[in-house]
Amino acid sequence: MIVNTTDAIKILNKGEVLALPTETVYGLAARIDKPEALKKIFSTKGRPFFDPLIVHVSNISQARSLSSNWPKIAEVLANKYWPGPLTLVLPKSKLVDELISAGLPTVAIRLPNHELAINIIETVNCPLAAPSANKFGRTSPTSAQHLIEEYADKPIPILNGGPCQIGIESTILSIQTNSENKTKLAILRKGSISIEEIQETLKSANLEFTVENSVDKTLAPGNMPYHYMPSKPLFLCEDLKITYDRLFKMCNSLILRNVNNKHQFTQLKPNQKIHSFNELRLDTNPNIAARELYAKLRELSKRPQDAIVFFVDPKHKTTSWQAIMDRLQKASIK
Ligand code: TXA
Ligand code: MG
Repeated sequence: MIVNTTDAIKILNKGEVLALPTETVYGLAARIDKPEALKKIFSTKGRPFFDPLIVHVSNISQARSLSSNWPKIAEVLANKYWPGPLTLVLPKSKLVDELISAGLPTVAIRLPNHELAINIIETVNCPLAAPSANKFGRTSPTSAQHLIEEYADKPIPILNGGPCQIGIESTILSIQTNSENKTKLAILRKGSISIEEIQETLKSANLEFTVENSVDKTLAPGNMPYHYMPSKPLFLCEDLKITYDRLFKMCNSLILRNVNNKHQFTQLKPNQKIHSFNELRLDTNPNIAARELYAKLRELSKRPQDAIVFFVDPKHKTTSWQAIMDRLQKASIK
């Protein structure tokens, strides 16, 4: 159900959850000082408690208050990229409830680049914890309509901020500083801001750091092999010359393998066979492709065909496509 700003504020202050627009994807928000509201985020999404939440702030000083150690690197990145699609993972302060950090000593923080979101956080005068508003494991919502459909069975209050401009979730950067004051950075989730860009920014500010390429699993508990899944099975195909016959064979053998592996895909039923598919076609500009990605996956899932196929061509393997390909890899049947 769509609500106006005044009601949205009342809903949050009462300890209820609210679907909130951001520039990346819609979030399911609750005040960080209301544990009952935080619990409702998990129950509404069907999210397990081991997966921590991102805290959204309306200014940098609010971000500092959430962290027990706010290094110069965080200050430089926040000044450069906020408001914007960069989430910083730092040691948490006492303001951060265990439900938010899922038992980790850290907190993920970002300042979203959406006027409505910033105004709401400022007015309630409290940071808001918000994961993407989709049901657990599914495609993130990038419009109010997606949310109306996702929660058709049990409507949730939605603040309509129009279609999301970035379209995929923020880049998540872990910043770890050791006792010798050395800083290690690690990308926990790729997004529209790349590690190369971040390194450039920090080098220009004469800051020292190292970048970890392989990420310790305990640092990124939300990194699941299957995620962002549309409601029809998605397949990636690198063979651009494949025949229909072979394509169907490939899809069906992957389905059999996954059903046998007992993966819990709601799209897949035992003995289900793919007889028809739609092709996911993305714009050649990765920024536009990202903006349209989830809306296209949702739209194709509504068509009568059994499945969705995306043909991966050489351009999709370049750096500017990494964040999109990460989503497609995780969303596809492997
Ligand atoms: O663009 C975005 O980041 C969107 C909008 C709504 O802000 N939010 C979003 O939240 O994508 P969510 O919960 O769907 O994904 C956040 C990811 C999860 O995989 C979670 O595990 C990870 O961030 N995360 C949260 N806190 C963390 C922490 N302290 N350490 C490591 N990972 C963390
Ligand atoms: Mg999510």
